[in-house]
Amino acid sequence: MQTLRLLTTALALTATVAVAHQGVSNPAVMARMNAMSDISENVKTLGTMAKGQRDFDRQLARAAAANIADHAARSVDLFEAPETDPKSEALPAIWDNYADFTAKSIEMQRVAQALAGSIETLADVQAGMGPLGQTCTACHKLYRE
Ligand code: HEC
Repeated sequence: MQTLRLLTTALALTATVAVAHQGVSNPAVMARMNAMSDISENVKTLGTMAKGQRDFDRQLARAAAANIADHAARSVDLFEAPETDPKSEALPAIWDNYADFTAKSIEMQRVAQALAGSIETLADVQAGMGPLGQTCTACHKLYRE
C-alpha cells in the first residue's frame, strides 16, 4: 500500500541521526544538522502516531507539523553559505542549484504547514505522511550523500 511504503521511507530517514553528529567541528554545519535532526524527530512523532505506536493527539500532531514548517523556513538561510565539514553529508550540488534547493525547502514548508492547519483525525496524519516524506526524499536524493 502506497501510504505505508511512504511512511516507512519517512521513518527510515530518521534512523541515522545519533551517529551522524559525532565529531562535527564546523558550527554552521552543526546548526543545519541539528535543524534536520529536529525535523526528523517531529516526523517520528507523526510517524509513530500514524502507525498506532503512540496515541493520536491532535495538538501534538499539529505542533509537530508546525515545527517542521518552521525549520523548513529557516533551512533556506541555514544552508545558504557553502559550509563544509568532513562529517557533512551535504553535496556541493546544493550551491550550484541553490534556487532549486530553496524550492524544495519551500515545498517541505508548504506541505508541513498545510498539515499543521488541517489535522483533525488520525486518518489525516496517516494520509499526510506520504506527501511529507516525499518532500524529504525529493531533496535528499539530489543534495545529500
Ligand atoms: C531542501 C532539502 C532538504 C529537505 C526538504 C530535507 N532535507 Fe534532510 N538534509 C538535507 C541535507 C542537504 C542534509 C545534509 C546536511 C549536512 O550533513 O550538512 C540533510 C540531512 C538530514 C538528516 C541527517 C542530519 C544529521 O544529523 O546529520 C536527517 C535525519 C534529515 N535530513 C531528515 C529529513 C527529513 C525527515 C526531511 C523531511 C521531513 C528532510 N530531511 C527534508 C536536505 C534536505
